[in-house]
Amino acid sequence: MNPKEHAPCYIYDQAMIESACEELKKELPGFTFLYSIKANPFEPVVRTIASHGFGADAASWREVEESLTCGMTKEQIYFSAPGKSEQDLRNARGKCTIIADSLNELRLIQKIAEEHHTIETIGLRVHPLYTMGAGAVSASKFGVDLEQIDELKETLKQCPNIRIAGMHVHLRSQVLDAETIGQYYEDTMKTALLLKETCGIDMKFINFGSGIGTVYDAVKEKPVDLAALREKTAVLMEMNAGLGAKLIIETGRFVVCRAGKYVTPIIDKKVSHGTTYLIVANGLNGFLRPAIAALIANVAKGQPVGGMEPLFTNDNEFEIKVLNNCEETETVNVVGNLCTALDVIKNNITLNKAEPGDLIEISNAGSYAYPLTPVQFSSHTVPEQYLETPDGKLIEH
Ligand SMILES: Cc1ncc(COP(=O)(O)O)c(C=O)c1O
Repeated sequence: MNPKEHAPCYIYDQAMIESACEELKKELPGFTFLYSIKANPFEPVVRTIASHGFGADAASWREVEESLTCGMTKEQIYFSAPGKSEQDLRNARGKCTIIADSLNELRLIQKIAEEHHTIETIGLRVHPLYTMGAGAVSASKFGVDLEQIDELKETLKQCPNIRIAGMHVHLRSQVLDAETIGQYYEDTMKTALLLKETCGIDMKFINFGSGIGTVYDAVKEKPVDLAALREKTAVLMEMNAGLGAKLIIETGRFVVCRAGKYVTPIIDKKVSHGTTYLIVANGLNGFLRPAIAALIANVAKGQPVGGMEPLFTNDNEFEIKVLNNCEETETVNVVGNLCTALDVIKNNITLNKAEPGDLIEISNAGSYAYPLTPVQFSSHTVPEQYLETPDGKLIEH
């Protein structure tokens, strides 16, 4: 394809997405995989992932609907999010496995089930008594505190129309250390066994959430050693032998982040007080994350800043290049065309010397990119999204 004809646009590489899906399946046998739709809900992307046997981690009713549209079955879709409305729960009933996120949600599900004279089989999101390799346990808006197990038991007694058949935990994203992830899986498995014992929950599934990170910075980061993680999971398989639960891993960025790039044209070039600016179409309002990274770099003044998922991962999370063959380089500020000085892609970066009409390409644009971007801001043309097939065909919807 010729990106010049389509930019500003996102291009997702189908072959890369497919190979990431297959890598997880091959390296971590014994698990069922769910794709976290929120990472990239572009339908051709979701259909591709569904065709590799992945189910959905849906965070809203609309994501449940999209998962069904993209070919996933209701048995493959898990709807887990804090603050589901009664309408969300009514919509989702019978269309997926609902994961209750609070005691109030349990009561709401009970009310709806009672109305329909049904027994609803659901899961429960748990806020556990361990962390995923970082810091002490603290308050969380996600799930039911394991500390409240007595209250949970009481609530379940008042919910005869609910059958809890599984558990969900998700604590962190973007972890690259196999040891940390493996330990977290083991802790989660122990919690599932505890809940089975103390609350009599028949654990048909244990959803370990996500955690497996992707490489943003190929110089500083190493991919998760999936073979080492597989070895760590041997103990899970043993612990699960008597239980027979479906073991689930969620994944968003691992399968899509590196498969995406954002391409946008340089509209203008100017010099101010000795600084050269390349002004591109749809900067902050085409791909928000670089603007946030630049803002954080500006405020942090060289101090390390931890991840703030999903808006910011690290200070070197993109590769930016000019798509021309110019052998001369120059140091520039790449900025967008909005009427705000915060519309910065990257300051002080050395790139191939560029002129208006050349294209800028930014990597790692496959996850938490388009959906997080305020594309309506200033009423510019909204970038298109394309899935590029291995034979170079562009799928638009
Ligand atoms: C519950 C849950 N599962 C899975 C994910 C996906 O995380 P990642 O894209 O890091 O795989 C998220 C991300 O926020 C999440 O909240």
